[in-house]
Amino acid sequence: MEIDADTKITGILGHPIHHSLSPLMHNTVFKHLGLNYVYLPFDVKPEDLKCAINAIRCMNIVGVNLTIPHKEKVIAHLDRIDTEAELIGAVNTIENIDSELVGFNTDGQGFLESLKNDLGFSPKGKSILIVGAGGAARGILVSLALGGAPKISVTNRTYNRAEKLIEEFSDRFPSVKFSALPLDNNTLKNCLGDTDLLINTTSVGMNGDSLRLPLSYLPKSAIIYDIVYNPLKTPLLREAEEAGLTAHNGLGMLVFQGALSFKIWTDVDAPVKLMKETLAKRLFL
Ligand SMILES: NC(=O)c1ccc[n+]([C@@H]2O[C@H](COP(=O)([O-])OP(=O)(O)OC[C@H]3O[C@@H](n4cnc5c(N)ncnc54)[C@H](OP(=O)(O)O)[C@@H]3O)[C@@H](O)[C@H]2O)c1
Repeated sequence: MEIDADTKITGILGHPIHHSLSPLMHNTVFKHLGLNYVYLPFDVKPEDLKCAINAIRCMNIVGVNLTIPHKEKVIAHLDRIDTEAELIGAVNTIENIDSELVGFNTDGQGFLESLKNDLGFSPKGKSILIVGAGGAARGILVSLALGGAPKISVTNRTYNRAEKLIEEFSDRFPSVKFSALPLDNNTLKNCLGDTDLLINTTSVGMNGDSLRLPLSYLPKSAIIYDIVYNPLKTPLLREAEEAGLTAHNGLGMLVFQGALSFKIWTDVDAPVKLMKETLAKRLFL
C-alpha cells in the first residue's frame, strides 16, 4: 500500500483499540481492490472525543468507525444521524460529507445481512429470542423489528434491563409482540418450543464459559447465532451442534457491519468473502 497526497483516510476511534480487527479487514480490502484509502486505529480517550471528532472535519478524514466507549457519546458531536442509529441510540460509523458529519449504525444491519447471506434466514414471520440486553442486543433488536420479526423476546441476567429494553421499543414497534424473560432455565424451557432463532448477545463464551441453556427444548429447525467471534466456536455453538441445531458464529456480523461501513465511505461493494477469510485466518492463529 503506497500512501500519497491523494490517499483517503478512514479509521476507528476507541479506547482501548489494540484489539480491533477492523484495520486488518479494511486495509486488506483497499489493497485488493486497488483503492487509494487507508484505515488507521486511533486510541481516543473519552475526554478527547470532541476534539477527535472535530479533527475528522479539519483533516478531511473520509469516515470512521466508533467502538467502545464512544458509540453513544459521539452522537452529541455529529451534525445528523440516520433513523436506525437514532432508534438504537448509538453510532458505529461516521461519514464526512463536505465537513458535515453523518452518523450511522451498521451493527444491527450487519447482523441481518449475515442472517440473509450466511443462513438464508429472514426475520419475517419468525419468533426470536435474544439472550442479553446490552449495546449489541439493542442494535439487533431494532434491526429485527425493522426487518419484520413479529415476535421478539429478550432474556437477561439482570432482568430489569430486559424489561426496560422491551418497554422502550414496545411503543415504537406496536406490531411486534415483545416480552422480557428472566434468564433461568425453567422459564426458558416453556418458551423455547416456538423459537426459530436464538441469539446470544452476551459476552459469555469469550472465556470458554457457557450459559448452559436448555437447547433440547428448541425445535430441530432452530438456528443458534452466537455474536461472539473469538473464539470462533464457543461452548454454546458446540452444544448447539451436539443438539443437532444449526449454529453460527459472530464473524458474519463483524464482516457485514464492516462491509456496510466500507460501502458508505467508498460507494463500492466490499468483497465480504475476502473480509471473512482474512479475519478467520487471524482468529485461528
Ligand atoms: N460479532 C460482532 O460483530 C459483534 C458486535 C458487537 C458485539 N459483539 C460481542 O457481543 C458481546 C456483547 O457486547 P455488548 O457491546 O452488547 O456488551 P454490553 O453492552 O456490555 O452487554 C453485555 C451483556 O452480556 C451480559 N453478561 C455479561 N456477563 C454475563 C454472565 N456472566 N452471565 C450472563 N450474562 C452476562 C450482560 O448482562 P447484565 O445486563 O446482567 O450485565 C449484558 O446483557 C461481546 O462479546 C462483543 O464482543 C460482537
